[in-house]
Amino acid sequence: MNPLFNFTHTDTDKGTLEWRSPSNIALIKYWGKHGEQKPINPSVSMTLKYAFTQTEIHWSPKSSPSAADFEFFLSQQKVGEKFEKRVGQLIKIIAAEYPKINEKLLTINSINTFPHSTGIASSASGLSALALALMSLGKRLHGQDLSYDAFLQKASYYARLGSGSACRSVYAPYAIWGAGATANSTNEFAIPFTPHNDFLKIHDSILIFSKTPKTVSSSAGHELMNNHAYKQGRIAQANENTQNMLEALKSGDFEKWQHITENEALALHGLMLSSVSPVLQLLPDSIQFLTDFMAFRKGKGLKAAFTIDAGPNIHILYAPEHYEEVRAFISNWITERRRPIDVIDDETGKGAKELF
Ligand code: DP6
Repeated sequence: MNPLFNFTHTDTDKGTLEWRSPSNIALIKYWGKHGEQKPINPSVSMTLKYAFTQTEIHWSPKSSPSAADFEFFLSQQKVGEKFEKRVGQLIKIIAAEYPKINEKLLTINSINTFPHSTGIASSASGLSALALALMSLGKRLHGQDLSYDAFLQKASYYARLGSGSACRSVYAPYAIWGAGATANSTNEFAIPFTPHNDFLKIHDSILIFSKTPKTVSSSAGHELMNNHAYKQGRIAQANENTQNMLEALKSGDFEKWQHITENEALALHGLMLSSVSPVLQLLPDSIQFLTDFMAFRKGKGLKAAFTIDAGPNIHILYAPEHYEEVRAFISNWITERRRPIDVIDDETGKGAKELF
């Protein structure tokens, strides 16, 4: 339990609060949704440690108590209209349950520890940090008595409405989202998952092959699943992979983990390629790297796997005992190719946290 959680201001007139929420990398991919941000298949993710968003809300009284007024800054800059709209929508949704939010003028300052469009989901950390901060504000303004678990569950629910993958970022070290994965998993919010000890610390080196923003947004990508020829097959595959992944994570089976993680990454790109409007996101360098990585790994019994989100950048996940070997492979590969490829190093994290 976070020691700051029950800290209450005597003066709710104005104040400041702040939450930190990490990004996550999906091992089982959420791809395709229906209704109100409900996934067509369950997903499983590992929460990251160093890639996070910190969101501070400063609130003060407002003259007329109609819809909430807010200003949102990312790294002290105004954000684009699209993202601002997403923020406004989430405020509106959370204020429907906590109407005192509408009586406040909100100044929201957000910072990311990682650059945009790097293959790290900024919507996952950004929208989960925002949901946590807004929930925290609503709870304080209404003097709501909520257990920490119930608070996180609600925050995960609201984060999902902001961005699907964001609901998983509330929890650590791993999270499951979607009905049918376990007896208590649901489409409404994510639940935490604790694996075998050997999976509690996994490195994630992210190779940034392109910093150009994606040509197809995640939302547009999810839509491609609506009338995809392989939709039913994909749902069956994701459900089976989820069961096998949870078994692998529970039992410490790295071979199975590697097989399923990579199957999911390539299936995601296969689905994009075979959509009615095909989407090709892997670059020649991404493919060359994957080929070389698989050749390097062959016969070594390395506890290392690749995964890829909906972009060209590649995550290499590996156990701490292979740190030197994998890092040397990556840096030699980059040096030999003389490419300006950035690498971001991350690892399994501990989840969201209230800062003050
Ligand atoms: C490929 O959560 O970004 O990263 O719900 O539309 O905001 P929206 O989509 P988003 O989709 C993430 C897709 C993915 C796989 C995953 O993280 O599970």
